Amino acid sequence: MTRQSLIRISIPLLAVLALVGAAAAQMPDMSHGMTMPGGAAPAESLAPATKDTRQTVHFPPQIRQATLREMRDHLASISDIQAALSRSDFALAARIADQRLGLSSTQHGGMMASVRYMPAGMRELGYAMHRSASRFVVAAQDASVSGDVRPALAALTEVTQNCVACHAAYKLR
Ligand code: HEC
Repeated sequence: MTRQSLIRISIPLLAVLALVGAAAAQMPDMSHGMTMPGGAAPAESLAPATKDTRQTVHFPPQIRQATLREMRDHLASISDIQAALSRSDFALAARIADQRLGLSSTQHGGMMASVRYMPAGMRELGYAMHRSASRFVVAAQDASVSGDVRPALAALTEVTQNCVACHAAYKLR
């Protein structure tokens, strides 16, 4: 093959490759909302969303501070739960979820004060998160009988999916 004909072939080929690349870049991130056979979703999306489409929610400064403090404790709770699960300490995992994330944790938390400032959709996601945490408590208690951690991990994933969903939809100012 001559050098000339090689160039004649490779230029259209490069053009096609560039088009395929551009099309792939425009594809929506398919990993969102996809569920795996075990009921859990993939841990990471392929690309972080670049455009901020979150709705701004206004809280009074003190309530915003208290809410963010509670949020940081939510993250610490998830971390503590994962640590407990890794040691097969299912009773501890259940207790952390019950006291710091579950429905009963809302009865005496700052969350109650913030609820009246939330749009309905945000409130729903908040309750959904607490409900899923309460389901995790049951799944973790079951795991201590069955020895199978997987249903508890799937239930924990539902909890974090609610964190992700609310963070994707709302921001505080
Ligand atoms: C009902 C909605 C909602 C749910 C559910 C929710 N969050 Fe948040 N969270 C928010 C909002 C709104 C912010 C503020 C984001 C912003 O303004 O950019 C926030 C902020 C945070 C922050 C940052 C705190 C700081 O100091 O700035 C962390 C960490 C966090 N959330 C963790 C979690 C975890 C972990 C969960 C789940 C167990 C969770 N959140 C569930 C709404 C939610």
